[in-house]
Amino acid sequence: METIKQPCTAAEPLIAAAQDLQIRRGGDGSFSLWCGRFSCLRRQRPSYGIDAPGLVRSFILVGVAALIVALAVGHSPWPGGVVSLALSSFGWLVSVYALCMGGYMLYGSLIGKVRARHQLLGLLPWTGSEAVLDVGCGRGLLLTAAASRVPFGHAIGIDLWLAKDQSGNRAAATLANARAEGVAERVEVETGDARQLPFADGTFDVVVSHWVVHNLDKSTDRARALDEMARVLRPGGWLLIEDIENHAEYVDQLKGLGFIGVRHIASRFWDKVRGFITFGTFRPGTVIGQSPFQSW
Ligand SMILES: C[S@@+](CC[C@H](N)C(=O)[O-])C[C@H]1O[C@@H](n2cnc3c(N)ncnc32)[C@H](O)[C@@H]1O
Repeated sequence: METIKQPCTAAEPLIAAAQDLQIRRGGDGSFSLWCGRFSCLRRQRPSYGIDAPGLVRSFILVGVAALIVALAVGHSPWPGGVVSLALSSFGWLVSVYALCMGGYMLYGSLIGKVRARHQLLGLLPWTGSEAVLDVGCGRGLLLTAAASRVPFGHAIGIDLWLAKDQSGNRAAATLANARAEGVAERVEVETGDARQLPFADGTFDVVVSHWVVHNLDKSTDRARALDEMARVLRPGGWLLIEDIENHAEYVDQLKGLGFIGVRHIASRFWDKVRGFITFGTFRPGTVIGQSPFQSW
């Protein structure tokens, strides 16, 4: 039997189009798929900013300055002595410490916390229809992750948008991240203070807050913020606070407010290591609890 090879005319335009496909990267971090002259799909990459950008900058500047001092003293033409050895060693020590701290903070903002957020939200029992509040949402790290867990609910973020606490901290950046994560239709943002939440009692099923409350210097302000979070939770709703210090304070207050099953979740080993390296200023951990089944 003779086989006649015929060109598959229907497939030709598809093959030509596939050969014409290109992925282009925009200066704003977006990606778009192009077919010839036509853009088929455009997707912005979410970006959750750098926390405490001033501190990160200071660590890097101090690290570089100390490195220069250490190198200059080490290579100076003058005869070395105990003083120059001590200065050079101190320069190296400060430089390594400051650069490691700056690098660790950058890693935490850009990679660590983005990876950890789904595990964190996995601590809560989701039904998919919750009303969620993210207090101090910044550029929406937990807000968008929570919105992706509530296809039949919604998530509201509230913040004062302080530039000192997060780089590029703006409501528009948060909404852009919600679009990039494909959850924009379930996300809203508002401007407001954690100490005076503009919501009625019992509005939310879940309240979350990530690396926010420690920014309030006075313990009375932190207590007010927690009171407010408890007030806007419905009876039986869940509260999750991830922070870098003050966990015992939060646990005591929530227990005092009658919360059920209040827990402080942290790795003992890493808590000790991080606490030692950062002089007790960075000991991330989670406080979680369920609002009492009674009206406020
Ligand atoms: C370190 S950022 C964390 C942002 C976000 N939760 C995250 O983890 O990416 C701290 C956030 O708390 C906000 N913030 C600080 N004090 C606040 C207050 N009193 N009320 C509301 N937001 C506040 C800042 O504007 C900032 O967005």
